[in-house]
Amino acid sequence: MSTTAQLTVELAERAYPIHFSDSLNPLQKDVAALRAANRSIRVLSDAKVLDAQPDILVKAGFKREEILSLPSGETTKSIEHLSQSLSFLATDSMNRDCSLFAFGGGVIGDLAGYVAASYLRGIDFYQIPTTLLSMVDSSVGGKTGINLPEGKNLVGAFWQPKAVYINTALLETLPPREFAAGLAEVIKYGMLYDLDFFKELEKVNTLTANAPELAGVVRRCCAIKAEIVVNDEKETASSGGRALLNLGHTFAHAIENVAGYGHYLHGEAVAIGLNLATQLSVKLGQLKAADIDRVKALIERCNLPTQLHNPLSIIELMAAMQKDKKNRAGKLRFVSMQTIGEAITTEEVDYALIESLWQEVGAK
Ligand SMILES: NC(=O)c1ccc[n+]([C@@H]2O[C@H](COP(=O)([O-])OP(=O)(O)OC[C@H]3O[C@@H](n4cnc5c(N)ncnc54)[C@H](O)[C@@H]3O)[C@@H](O)[C@H]2O)c1
Repeated sequence: MSTTAQLTVELAERAYPIHFSDSLNPLQKDVAALRAANRSIRVLSDAKVLDAQPDILVKAGFKREEILSLPSGETTKSIEHLSQSLSFLATDSMNRDCSLFAFGGGVIGDLAGYVAASYLRGIDFYQIPTTLLSMVDSSVGGKTGINLPEGKNLVGAFWQPKAVYINTALLETLPPREFAAGLAEVIKYGMLYDLDFFKELEKVNTLTANAPELAGVVRRCCAIKAEIVVNDEKETASSGGRALLNLGHTFAHAIENVAGYGHYLHGEAVAIGLNLATQLSVKLGQLKAADIDRVKALIERCNLPTQLHNPLSIIELMAAMQKDKKNRAGKLRFVSMQTIGEAITTEEVDYALIESLWQEVGAK
């Protein structure tokens, strides 16, 4: 029997449902409704996703000629593929009542969202996430965008989807390394917002794509993300707010930047970043030292790293952190924990302290 449930992201006139279902029903129903209303439909996806899940879109009611297949990988979040995707809509003279669906991971979701935000100054957009990371994080919250040669996510818009369709059965074809990378964001939610959820994760033996606990875990992450986004949609709160979702990310972005994009998957860099954020919280006198081992144990059980594979340069890591777009008024901005399950934003952090933390994970 299929299970269906729904959660609403309560953003007033931009409120939208997140459908959780192990069947295609909610998606099929909405596609049929769009067709009945004579709305045009287009889909952006990536070649690997379409290979791994060849029948889903057709079963859901999409036509093959409505789908644009883009190359898999981070480089697809580029001006070139933005241009290709906009032309895909424009050559078929799509008008404002066209609906654009993203079928893929965070790369396709971020690109398609930005295409939808830009085309004719904004068309409807729907997310069908296919990676764990995109189910628990990027498909919810409306951050869309692309990369420039100068850096990641430098161009974008806030553009909320009209609906998100989450079906964890799609994860069965996801490579294990990608699955593990998504788990870093799952652990992050427990650490920043929900001690009970963190404890539940500690109890689960191994969270795999077909684990019975997975659907509930994904749903809990979406609920946390939705709650945080609703209270600070555009990340403008002077403290706390949406920025808390960046727990571990100031470190992670520096690792990705210095190691070269692609060396670590984003979630792998986040895992090391979560270890560092825990150590920072201990050094700031907020957490007890034993929490470091507790967090490390959970990260390692998820087949994620807590240390750098090769030593990176501390000077380069510090320089990369200073370029982080989350910094305010020239000050480094970190998210730390007061206890596991409760995070805060912290601005007055001594540079020497951060340098010493980098040594702890193997930087030189
Ligand atoms: N908008 C946001 O709030 C937000 C939040 C976090 C991350 N992001 C962005 O998300 C991106 C990373 O997303 P990602 O980790 O999903 O990566 P991704 O989209 O590159 O997908 C990872 C890999 O898995 C493959 N894949 C996807 N689904 C599959 C499936 N079901 N079966 C087999 N293969 C599959 C893809 O082809 C790709 O090779 C980054 O660009 C990051 O900046 C955005």
